Amino acid sequence: MPLPIAELHLHIEGTLEPELAFELAARNGVALPYADAEELRKAYEFADLQSFLNLYYELMAVLRTERDFADLADAYLARAAAQGVRHAEIFFDPQAHTARGVDIGTVVEGLWRALGNSEAEHGVSTRLILCFLRDESAESALETLEAAKPYLDRITGIGLDSAEVGHPPVKFREVYETAAGLGLRRVAHAGEEGPPEYITEALDVLGVERVDHGLRCVEDPELVARLVRERIPLTLCPLSNVRLRTVDTLADHPLPAMLDAGLLCTVNSDDPAYFGGYAGDNFDAVRRTLGLGEERLRELARNSFTASFLEDDEELRAR
Ligand code: HPA
Ligand code: ZN
Repeated sequence: MPLPIAELHLHIEGTLEPELAFELAARNGVALPYADAEELRKAYEFADLQSFLNLYYELMAVLRTERDFADLADAYLARAAAQGVRHAEIFFDPQAHTARGVDIGTVVEGLWRALGNSEAEHGVSTRLILCFLRDESAESALETLEAAKPYLDRITGIGLDSAEVGHPPVKFREVYETAAGLGLRRVAHAGEEGPPEYITEALDVLGVERVDHGLRCVEDPELVARLVRERIPLTLCPLSNVRLRTVDTLADHPLPAMLDAGLLCTVNSDDPAYFGGYAGDNFDAVRRTLGLGEERLRELARNSFTASFLEDDEELRAR
């Protein structure tokens, strides 16, 4: 039996497996510039975050209808459940769809068809987190939050993703303030490719409760001490870090040192269709390659629930 875990860093668009991409392309009459799923999979060689994002946005062209988004989320939830995921806090990127003429309502309602049935179908509770693309403008983020207002009963929080360097958290001060006023929870990607200062800024300017990645905090001992003291969770994604070359090899990943330092680390999959593994695969990889023992694995599993946005009673049921 896999260890029960919560997944807190998962881009639903990053769960689009090549086979489903081709199925949806055929259904929607979209031409993909790859002969088949096998050839597409061969394109999954990334030099950095941007080279991944280029393919990630390109493939989204196949997602057009509510049914597409429902099928995508349902496939993820089935795979996640099989790997021990009992709760998933799921990112989605509305601007990547509205820019292609797909309404935000189509995205949210489609995802909700799967998420609304997930506890009954898969035994996985869920939350939805709307992410702003940080390489788009602050005005676009504000417009996106406005467009999301009819769906806020389905959205727990906001996040910030896409190309990090050159797009510091402060750019999104206003939309985070507005979201906080609407009662939304706040997270942001910071310190994946960007410097440790972006982590500090995400905490101080955006008021985030949890940092996505946060890996580069290890370069700043004072920041590490603060994250430990304030019990700020980090949603680490080890296989993603290897594929996007944020670390040289998995054996070089600082996760063990980060746990030793007392950081509240969690292990997640990020974009599992692209990075070679779902949440349980990430757990297996760090157990095997980093030599984490049973106690450390249990700590990571416990942290994933502690760091989640579940209420205490829900948390007890999910664990
Ligand atoms: N980093 C930033 N943006 C993203 C990622 C990521 O790992 N995955 C999907 N969007
Ligand atoms: Zn991510």
